[in-house]
Amino acid sequence: MPQFTPIIIASENGRQGCEAAMRILRNGGSALDAVEIACRVVEDDPHEHSVGYSGLPNVLGDVELDASIMDGRTLRTGAVAGVLHYGNVISLARRVMEELPHVLLVGRGAERFAAEMGMQPSEQRSFEALRRWRERFDDAGIAELNGIPLRELAKQMTRPVNLVDRVDHGTVNFIALDRHGNLASAVSTSGLAWKYPGRVGDSPIVGAGNYCDNRYGAAACTGMGELAIRVSTARSLVLYMKIGMSLQEAGMEALLDLDYLQAQPGQYMNIVALTPDGDHAGFTSVPGKQYLYFEANMDEPALAERKVMSKE
Ligand code: GLY
Repeated sequence: MPQFTPIIIASENGRQGCEAAMRILRNGGSALDAVEIACRVVEDDPHEHSVGYSGLPNVLGDVELDASIMDGRTLRTGAVAGVLHYGNVISLARRVMEELPHVLLVGRGAERFAAEMGMQPSEQRSFEALRRWRERFDDAGIAELNGIPLRELAKQMTRPVNLVDRVDHGTVNFIALDRHGNLASAVSTSGLAWKYPGRVGDSPIVGAGNYCDNRYGAAACTGMGELAIRVSTARSLVLYMKIGMSLQEAGMEALLDLDYLQAQPGQYMNIVALTPDGDHAGFTSVPGKQYLYFEANMDEPALAERKVMSKE
């Protein structure tokens, strides 16, 4: 049986996760275990405000988390969305995949399942942006916002220049190839900051923010999730490779799909992709973005430029 050189790729905020994952991959562990542990490291990082329970909250001040995981060998997948109180949502997504005859759990059901699986609730961590947000709404008070229409407020808060200075929609992506040639992908996020309660982005939508198939490759997204949902970005990229495009061609085609949406200023999409033989690339709809890759024969993760969309 041929041995593959393990590799993990990630969005730019995944460095520590890559290092933890590579220890698993070097020891012959599975790509699935590697991407799960990688996400958990980022979810647990108190300085990471786009993933896990230190993530930025919704417009009511609640942190709602989304995640998905996919096994490229079997095409099994699990996902959770709109989860309160539990920080390691990637592990919850994996349990959905392994313990239930379902793919996606949301909100109360997902939280109930987390408790059933013996997971410990996390404390929501306070941080500077939330403090400033509370100050801004001091007169109304966060609790009272529960009773008022939130539509205009959520629109205002999620504009590029808003009460918290910018639109925030970070996420972490990991895709790994293990020694046995299996691919797995994982995506975790607190979603678009200051979103309308219950808003779900691309990260837990398999095919939009995450897709993985040992036969053709895997792709995962960060950025404004609504865009990837509208054109099924992750699955499209993998499908473009299935029908014979190279990795570079497939990534550009996925960016062209996104370009057709004519996104608003401040709305962008990034993609990382990995082929079954370990070739990797990153793509973006805006210049200046990077991604991480870490092969088993490297000392540490390295940054690479993402390709920007070109219509030529
Ligand atoms: N890409 C993460 C989100 O939009 O929720």
